[in-house]
Amino acid sequence: MSSGAKITQKIGFIGSGNMAEAMIKGLLSAKVVDPQQICSSDPRKERCQSLIDRFGIKSTTDNAEVVKHASVVILAVKPQILPKVCDEVSSQLDSSKLVISIAAGMPIRAIEGHFAAKTRIVRAMPNTPALVGAGATALAAGEHATSADLDVAKQIFDAVGKTVALDEDQLDAVTGLSGSGPAYVFLIIEALSDAGVKMGLSRENAQALAAQTVLGSAKLLIDTNEHPGRLKDMVTSPGGTAIAGLHTLEAGGLRTTLINAVEAATRRSRELGEAAANAKKPTGK
Ligand SMILES: NC(=O)c1ccc[n+]([C@@H]2O[C@H](COP(=O)([O-])OP(=O)(O)OC[C@H]3O[C@@H](n4cnc5c(N)ncnc54)[C@H](OP(=O)(O)O)[C@@H]3O)[C@@H](O)[C@H]2O)c1
Repeated sequence: MSSGAKITQKIGFIGSGNMAEAMIKGLLSAKVVDPQQICSSDPRKERCQSLIDRFGIKSTTDNAEVVKHASVVILAVKPQILPKVCDEVSSQLDSSKLVISIAAGMPIRAIEGHFAAKTRIVRAMPNTPALVGAGATALAAGEHATSADLDVAKQIFDAVGKTVALDEDQLDAVTGLSGSGPAYVFLIIEALSDAGVKMGLSRENAQALAAQTVLGSAKLLIDTNEHPGRLKDMVTSPGGTAIAGLHTLEAGGLRTTLINAVEAATRRSRELGEAAANAKKPTGK
């Protein structure tokens, strides 16, 4: 990963699980922060020690200590634990601090309800490829977050992949597309591998070829910035193999099925977000 501009803020992670570790690793390998700038918390002492040993960061079992240390506080716990954690640290959180939540489906207004009025919040929706530095993250700024806050959040998430900024009401669609998307792509890779096995390839070779084809096609699209239809046409010679395969995919309704999948996942994300917001109404402290 190429190194971007240095981040000067101290960054605190509340919750030191998979996502926090991916981000810590990404930030350090992109050299946009030094280990002394990062502090994390986790209920398990051995988990904290492991992060200290491997990354040279500070790590503690005390969430409040992370908030005291940091000017950017990243909420990286599971959504169901988030309300409790917010209440626990809210007294340490003054207006100088930016809060970034990565909790899936938790609306900004639900988080705001736990903190002092005018708390600056950015909500992020990353996806699992962030664990290998190839994530797709969408960011949405809360009412009180500034464009500088959004820039800091972008710098942080650029360390684990690509980032776009949009309005919060589009995050359900993001959840339906890139948030849930890795599941769709894994299913496609698995199906292509099965197809290769059916046609006589070993499982190992079939999976390697299927995964590399997905990776390579995405890279070709991104690197050339070509329309996907044009790149498809480049593979499709008259009377050839690819057009025979494409005809079968069209007959099976692949496009419609994928559109329906994203639509269903978006609808489900909206339902879950509404339930989360209603579980704890903002008090406007
Ligand atoms: N993984 C993804 O790709 C992905 C994608 C999009 C969004 N997200 C969001 O990212 C957040 C973190 O996901 P994750 O996959 O990193 O989950 P995770 O691996 O389970 O990490 C959460 C961490 O928080 C710790 N924790 C539990 N209770 C805590 C408390 N009271 N105070 C501080 N830490 C506490 C957990 O410790 P224990 O294990 O000991 O309970 C765990 O280490 C979630 O909200 C999820 O919705 C994740």
